[in-house]
Amino acid sequence: MSVRSIGILGTGSALPEHILTNADLAKTVDTDPAWIEARTGIRERRIADERTSSSDLAVVAAHQAIAAAGILSEEIGLIICATVTPDTMFPATACLVQDRIGARNAGAFDLSAGCSGFVYGLSCAVSMLQTGICRYALVIGADTLSKITDFTDRTTCVLFADGAGAVVLGPTEQGRGFLSFELGADGRGSPLIRQAAGGSRLPASYATVEARQHFITMAGQEVFKFAVRILGASAEAALAKAELTTDDIDLLIPHQANIRIIEAAINRMNVPSKKVYVNLDRYGNTSSASIPIALDEVVRLGMLRERDVLVLVAFGAGLTWGATVLRW
Ligand code: ACO
Repeated sequence: MSVRSIGILGTGSALPEHILTNADLAKTVDTDPAWIEARTGIRERRIADERTSSSDLAVVAAHQAIAAAGILSEEIGLIICATVTPDTMFPATACLVQDRIGARNAGAFDLSAGCSGFVYGLSCAVSMLQTGICRYALVIGADTLSKITDFTDRTTCVLFADGAGAVVLGPTEQGRGFLSFELGADGRGSPLIRQAAGGSRLPASYATVEARQHFITMAGQEVFKFAVRILGASAEAALAKAELTTDDIDLLIPHQANIRIIEAAINRMNVPSKKVYVNLDRYGNTSSASIPIALDEVVRLGMLRERDVLVLVAFGAGLTWGATVLRW
């Protein structure tokens, strides 16, 4: 079956100005800067101020991606915002972005798939573009995890951070663009990383606030083991669907959660570290934003050549995972 080739036409990203270093964290919580760096690879991260929400960062990233794609906001037919920290439970953050960038002709919705949300969003948008529902789509990963992070919990507060990344998708020449997707979920792992209260199961109340149930809780070691296994397995599955192998990879951008997860996964896959892009030392784990922020950096650094094989692979709350292979 011949399907339209859909590729990435422009990228953008936004990070808060404020830098929180490991040494800063050690002043407020019982931790050690060297422990954080050794166990996670993170040296510093960006934290949004009180006035800045996920949509504020998303709008900046979206403007950049649209400018880089050389299209008008009015030409966008679809906006997907992957986030677990929407400005409000509803309406969707994607609608706030749609208004602020003047994308008058776009449908817009949020997508919740944890840190895999951006890859999930790409798969939805590519399918919709391939069927001709619209010509251009904007896919955003935007999260301000600091807003739901318990800064008295040293097992989580050293990891999470804020940011947004965006891409414009549209038609590209045959043989380039997205080649395959691999998506998965295992809801049995839902308790492993979650925000317990604030939804219909446990609506917000004085009791939930007192019990700190609006903050992220995480079983770090279990998530770690899952992540190491699934990063490689999903990337390899997506490569197989594209009739490629790990040897064909020119660049791999994994979800930026922990350097030890990335190293263990790429060792298993036999992918050399020079083919793997890492920026978590500077930005920490920005959830659904981590892959599009890294992609935007890679593009701006001129690291991708035409027809390079690029793999994006993520895992996150749900549990969820997703990988995609594209020819640049
Ligand atoms: N500073 C100092 N000591 C700490 C800290 C800290 N910040 N955090 C934990 N410790 C201690 C623990 O209390 C424990 O002490 P104990 O042995 O006396 O009980 C010791 O360090 C070892 O704890 P572990 O949990 O075994 O440490 P580990 O090496 O597994 O690292 C970490 C913990 C970094 C959380 C790791 O498990 C991890 O990265 N897991 C995956 C997390 C992840 O990727 N989450 C996101 C996925 S979804 C998403 O991206 C939103």
